[in-house]
Amino acid sequence: MLEKTRTFVMVKPDGVQRGLVGDIVKRFEQRGFRLVEAKIMRVDRALAERHYSQHQGKPFFEELVDYITSDSVFAVILEGVNAVAIARSMIGATNPAAALSGTIRGDYATSVEYNIIHGSDSAESVEREIALFFGASDGV
Ligand code: TYD
Repeated sequence: MLEKTRTFVMVKPDGVQRGLVGDIVKRFEQRGFRLVEAKIMRVDRALAERHYSQHQGKPFFEELVDYITSDSVFAVILEGVNAVAIARSMIGATNPAAALSGTIRGDYATSVEYNIIHGSDSAESVEREIALFFGASDGV
């Protein structure tokens, strides 16, 4: 039996506004992920600053927080084999200019500031981000 792990993905406000949630969920489901828990929510500044704390002080930080808090996001816990690496490869490079066609950013985004989706980058980030966005609840 292949070991399944979890990852955290968030469709950012422009992805939700553009109606891309359904397509993005479909891509993950088709690839073999199971949705463990999901919600549409607003991210407040405190949560945004904690989520992106590793970027505090960088030139893009304030705009990044403004963007993430500007409208609803879609937060989801996904479960599958090799979840972090496969979700990151489906999401594509941080800068959409470098993201391959066929990846989510490569198909839907053009600027690094508005790259429509976040995916955890390590097992430690998964733990931290699920705790931040979903608290104690861990789905079924
Ligand atoms: P990062 O954690 O490096 O990338 P990823 O989202 O692929 O894990 O950066 C977090 C977000 O910060 C990124 O999705 C978009 C934003 N960002 C910028 O706006 N400008 C930049 O130069 C970088 C590196 C990131």
